[in-house]
Amino acid sequence: MKRIKIANALNALAPVEDILIKGWVRTKRDAKGFSFLELNDGSGLKNIQAIVDHTPETLALLESIGTGASVAVEGSLSASPGQGQKWEVKARSLTLIGAADQVTYPLQKKRHSDEFLRTIAHLRSRTNKYGAMFRIRSELALAIHDFFQERGFFHIHSPILTGADCEGAGEMFRVTTQDRAKPGTAMDDFFGKDAFLTVSGQLSAEMLALGLGDVYTFGPTFRAENSNTPRHVAEFWMVEPEMAFADLTDDMDLGEALIKSVTSRILDRRADDVELFAKFVDTTLMVGLETIIKEPFARIPYREAIRILQEASRSFEFPTEFGCDLQTEHERYLAEEHFKKPVIVFDYPKEVKAFYMRLNDDNETVAAMDVLVPRIGEIIGGSQREERLEVLERRIQELSLSQEAYWWYLDTRRFGTVPHAGFGLGFERVLMMLTGVTNIRDVIPFPRAPKSLDF
Ligand code: 4AD
Ligand code: MG
Repeated sequence: MKRIKIANALNALAPVEDILIKGWVRTKRDAKGFSFLELNDGSGLKNIQAIVDHTPETLALLESIGTGASVAVEGSLSASPGQGQKWEVKARSLTLIGAADQVTYPLQKKRHSDEFLRTIAHLRSRTNKYGAMFRIRSELALAIHDFFQERGFFHIHSPILTGADCEGAGEMFRVTTQDRAKPGTAMDDFFGKDAFLTVSGQLSAEMLALGLGDVYTFGPTFRAENSNTPRHVAEFWMVEPEMAFADLTDDMDLGEALIKSVTSRILDRRADDVELFAKFVDTTLMVGLETIIKEPFARIPYREAIRILQEASRSFEFPTEFGCDLQTEHERYLAEEHFKKPVIVFDYPKEVKAFYMRLNDDNETVAAMDVLVPRIGEIIGGSQREERLEVLERRIQELSLSQEAYWWYLDTRRFGTVPHAGFGLGFERVLMMLTGVTNIRDVIPFPRAPKSLDF
């Protein structure tokens, strides 16, 4: 008989005479004459309850089946008299697929701390919370693709191995085939030059946008920031759209539309998974998500942001003068306390932003924009790009970057240059926003962080 997934069985419209379910035992309860097995196969948040009548045979088997064991149950799907579930399985046969030792299986308790679960990341997807998280994660990826596909953007693949530091922040992981014991020069290395893992697919996305029009990349991104914060991981996923013939306003519009669209989609398609977070992680989650969907995001120039911060009735650890980069405390104050909704800050001082951003007429600021959301801070970083060859060359010089290294980038300004804009959306940060989870290590299956490369 063909196995049916539990999520599908629970959605059945009518009883089913013969059904085969496979899953992991969440709990076993014994009653007089029969036992209840709560089974979950990962297909959804809800367990299905199987009722196994006691016979000498099943009693012996049930003895060896406890929380964490994997089993197969064949029987009939019938209306459940119990509360909270429509269907249950009346077992005709029970098979143990894989036992789990009841003394050493680490997921015995009903609730475990996130810290503990991080140490057993290989097993945590078997809990309600992490099952829900990774289902939301999967849906979010699809929602992002659909959003762009519906708007005629092409999905492109930007390289992971690169020779360029897109952000110029020097936070790159070096890739080498050289032996640690006898290091040679970069010339002798695999590529004949220094190679790194990409910190952003933007530069490739720009090249392709200037041929294909609207494109996006969605891939793994690597940053060797030595910051052990709850919002940074060394390996994360970034969504980077890039639009030709577009300016900063188009960029902000796209970012806002994207966040709104994926939020509604998750509430629509993974409602019970999100409800779990609203119930157990952040009781204000739903109100916040409704605000994100319904309210227009605030939009303010950086200068205005600085003014608001200076006038704030509270103090900040980091300075709030024109020229300072906004820190998480500032970003959160603006979104969480001042506007109480997402806010887009634009026109940052050029000193705090990357070389490729378009210089504004004031010669002081660049056409950058960051989308800040409550509880997290920056979720999107983007800009209109410098499309004027001479201005870009001057900027590269000012920052002592190598013109030769960027010859291909400059070429696109040399031949048929056009205004264009794009941004990077941190995929894990969106998951934090959607679930209320406050540590980024709990939204990615196997987080990579300083001194942490298990699993
Ligand atoms: O603001 P960032 O550094 O922008 C860029 O890399 C641009 N090249 C993007 C572009 O214009 N195409 O990063 C973009 C986003 C941030 O807003 C944040 O959400 C996320 O990527 N991010 C991280 N997420 C998790 N861990 C980290 N270490 C992150 N660093 C950035
Ligand atoms: Mg940024």
